[in-house]
Amino acid sequence: MTSRRKIALIGAGNIGGELASLAARKELGDVVLVDIPDREGVAKGKALDISQALALEGYDASVTGTSDYADIAGAAVCVVTAGVPRKPGMSRDDLLSINLKITRSVAAQIKANAPDAFVIVISNPLDAMVFEMQKVTGFSQNRVVGMAGALDSARFQHFLADAIGVGVKEVQALVLGGHGDTMVPVLSHCTVNGVPVSTLIGKEELDAIVERTKFGGGEIVKLMGTSAYVAPASGAIAMAESYLRDQKRLLPCAAWLTGQYGHEGIYMGVPVVIGSDGVERIIEVELSADEKALLDNSANHVSELLGAASKL
Ligand code: APR
Repeated sequence: MTSRRKIALIGAGNIGGELASLAARKELGDVVLVDIPDREGVAKGKALDISQALALEGYDASVTGTSDYADIAGAAVCVVTAGVPRKPGMSRDDLLSINLKITRSVAAQIKANAPDAFVIVISNPLDAMVFEMQKVTGFSQNRVVGMAGALDSARFQHFLADAIGVGVKEVQALVLGGHGDTMVPVLSHCTVNGVPVSTLIGKEELDAIVERTKFGGGEIVKLMGTSAYVAPASGAIAMAESYLRDQKRLLPCAAWLTGQYGHEGIYMGVPVVIGSDGVERIIEVELSADEKALLDNSANHVSELLGAASKL
């Protein structure tokens, strides 16, 4: 009999493996890695490998692999990476049709087996997948959220710290909007401990960093031949930890909008507070007219994506 909470990771691929390793090392709970029957061996193998590392390092968490969704029963958190990642030259939107089918089947399994879970979706195209997850599970919108802004903001933060020559912890950076080429790095809210970054670095270099951030995922796909998996896992674990430990962290996430930033009825990246009630609050920050226009454009793109998804 264990009193530890259960963390279900749906998809035992690159991100799933990283998620398992991080969740166990943070002792967030007992980890269940789920994949399709053909890949059950991979889920089980990764679970064993990580368990053996935990023995060496002295962490208390069990990690198991399975293809049986009954094993996620009672999960407190489900993190979903089931799907296909990008290959070089592909945009996230190119994955819509294939990943939509997978997300629908995963959502039905989560609904049936883990009806009380807080669900974090990572599969791309993110804003459409998290929308579908909420629709199929019927869970309240504060319990279904997408991981993208935390990752995009971390990329922005890293590039800024590097260019300015300060420690990465000194930089606060914010990326809002859809998780795609229209995302909006919000320079007006980027500071080095309160000092606006625009006073520390020239406009040309800043513009280049904004562009690099927007295509930060593609840069890695091009280099590695598949999409990033370490930082995406970190982003989702920050969200899961904030929920499980009621940390009330303010993290940019794909959240359900009910009029915030002038948009409703879509999931899109906005700053949210995550605590034991899930998405407890959406924070509305003041944006410049240019930033607002870019965010509207991004929201329009998300709506188009949802329109395409609804026909599939
Ligand atoms: N149930 C469980 N797992 C599934 C299912 C399903 N119905 N369908 C596919 N999977 C599994 C695959 O078998 C694979 O092991 O999802 C895993 C995905 O792992 P990778 O191919 O390594 O992809 P990864 O890099 O982890 O990215 C996953 O996250 O960032 C996004 O664009 C990325 O959509 C992609 C997802």
